[in-house]
Amino acid sequence: MAQQFEDKFRRKFYYLRLSVTDVCNFKCTYCLPDGYKPSGSKNSSFLTLPEIHRVVNAFADCGTSKIRITGGEPTLRKDFTDIIRVIADNSNIQKIATTTNGYRMERGVAEWKEAGLTHINVSVDSLDPRMFHQITGENRFHQVMSGIDRAFEVGYKQVKVNVVLMKDRNHHELPLFLNWIKHRPIQLRFIELMQTGEMDDLFTKHHISGVTIRNQLIANGWILKVRENNDGPAQVFVHPDYQGEIGLIMPYEKNFCDSCNRLRVSALGKLHLCLFGEQGIELRDLMQEDAQEAELISRIQMQLQNKSVSHFLQEGNTGMTPHLASIGG
Ligand code: 5AD
Ligand code: SF4
Repeated sequence: MAQQFEDKFRRKFYYLRLSVTDVCNFKCTYCLPDGYKPSGSKNSSFLTLPEIHRVVNAFADCGTSKIRITGGEPTLRKDFTDIIRVIADNSNIQKIATTTNGYRMERGVAEWKEAGLTHINVSVDSLDPRMFHQITGENRFHQVMSGIDRAFEVGYKQVKVNVVLMKDRNHHELPLFLNWIKHRPIQLRFIELMQTGEMDDLFTKHHISGVTIRNQLIANGWILKVRENNDGPAQVFVHPDYQGEIGLIMPYEKNFCDSCNRLRVSALGKLHLCLFGEQGIELRDLMQEDAQEAELISRIQMQLQNKSVSHFLQEGNTGMTPHLASIGG
């Protein structure tokens, strides 16, 4: 193995978030309120299967054991199942996850499982079908719920569900959500709304701290689970009466970035050291031949030395990120 990816704060990167498309068919108010618009630059086709294969191999050779396929909406790629296969082909990759809006899950999940997808995150911002429609711009609540049922049927032991927490939209739905996970092995993750470059007053209107949820959980007997080395940034709570778990993702909390263990590659092949704050470093020119692997690795290793200690969101920084569909959340 080549030297492990590590930055100057001794953070190790075992986890790659790989975006495979910018396109999305939903219009979430906090992400793409006007729907997906092609960015215009010509020849901007998304990473091909051979390019994906090469970048995955390079990361796997430097300690990466988990890859999440993101977007946009990754399952819009016609070759989504092949992408899973190409990643699963590398035996150093032990976890292959995806984050999806769920619209294709009912139809596709059996095939994805068979191809090697080990973990699924799906977004469900409200358990009220009308509110779901209002937030996502799509009247597909029941379709997404059937997709989750199907995932359990085909053998997933747990499904993670993302909820972007919003004041006056869904923050009052905690009891509904708790009831839903009582007898289901779902890890429900409340994500604090993050301010991105293209957001106008949505953030001011709807941002609410995850602390309000945390306080309600603690008051009702939920207990914070001890975090393991390779865990993500979620604070996970469990309760003896519930099969499901609750995760809180609070990017505005102090020290949120200390446990950062991930890197991102965009659908156009740029390396992003952080979700926020830079334009990305070109890697695609080094994904063209297998023989370029050493060079690819050394470019990444060099760039990692510039990774900043924190995203400085608390200071109102939204960096260069117009919305999270552009680099896969
Ligand atoms: N704030 C918080 N989470 C966001 N996501 C997208 N945009 C935002 C934002 N502005 C997350 C949602 C979705 C995932 C793909 O990205 O959780 O589930
Ligand atoms: Fe699409 Fe996900 Fe953005 Fe919603 S949050 S618009 S599903 S990319």
